[in-house]
Amino acid sequence: MPRHLLSLLDWSRDEILDALTLAQSLKRKTKAGACPKLLEGRSYALFFHKPSLRTRVSFEVGIHQLGGNSMILTEQDFKIGERESVRDVAKVLSRYVDGILIRTFAHEMVVALAEHTEVPMVNMLTDFSHPCQILADALTIQEHLGQLENLRIAYLGDGNNVTNSWLNLACRIPLDLRIGTAPETQPEAALVKATQDCGVSQVRVCHDAREAVADAQILYTDVWASMGEKEQARQRGQLLQDFQINQNLLECAAQGVKVMHCLPAERGREITEEVLEGANSIVLDQTENRLHAQKAVLAQLERWHRGL
Ligand code: CP
Ligand code: NVA
Repeated sequence: MPRHLLSLLDWSRDEILDALTLAQSLKRKTKAGACPKLLEGRSYALFFHKPSLRTRVSFEVGIHQLGGNSMILTEQDFKIGERESVRDVAKVLSRYVDGILIRTFAHEMVVALAEHTEVPMVNMLTDFSHPCQILADALTIQEHLGQLENLRIAYLGDGNNVTNSWLNLACRIPLDLRIGTAPETQPEAALVKATQDCGVSQVRVCHDAREAVADAQILYTDVWASMGEKEQARQRGQLLQDFQINQNLLECAAQGVKVMHCLPAERGREITEEVLEGANSIVLDQTENRLHAQKAVLAQLERWHRGL
């Protein structure tokens, strides 16, 4: 059975930290014009059932930098499970490509594909999680704060796929994670409890933005209505208006707090223009690190798959 990255829970603490170390090294080498060709001759199928800028471009460029080939497949090409079964898609692709990467709606479909593939799979975002984003964010935090463990991280806004991946990371790396959100938009209680029960991190969900943000070293947010939920934007806007990251809220956080957003952002909703563009914002470093973190993910999966 190949190893995958469907959620961060698929990898151990050491495997996550190894990937971050490899990402740092690949970033240095790439900037020196000497990215190693770790995926020479390898081919990857990338499914996009939702829009993407960062994920699509960073994976395609990253695979190219490592010497591999990528091909994009959309629902216009075929719908998985409609023209042929999930099992057949998985088995057929496994005879052609060295990895299957997918961005789609239902996480269960990705899990079902992974049950039948004979090559590694990567989750490029589902309604449930976005592990590649959080790995790149962890790399960015290490670069800016010199450490990842035991930092106070405040996630504000909708309890969504990005929040869930923060919770997954908190099961592997000790964090002081506070989620500030409305009662109606909080992440699934069972996932929060399972994360707390892991005993690795301190995890708290609170409904007061100032309490969530107090002394935080990282302030993180994401859109209030994710892809596939945009018709709920108005209602979410009302529920979450107190959880906007703005200059007033920034003042409750630790001195020098770093502001993060996975992007795309809706300026004036979950975050003000002033803060997104301000001196505390490290959003473009997050974006850049998608490239290097994902190269490390593919290289690590390839190494495991070849038994190296
Ligand atoms: N952050 C992120 O995944 O961006 P895209 O949706 O543009 O890929
Ligand atoms: N939660 C957002 C993340 C986009 C990168 C979404 O799923 O649309």
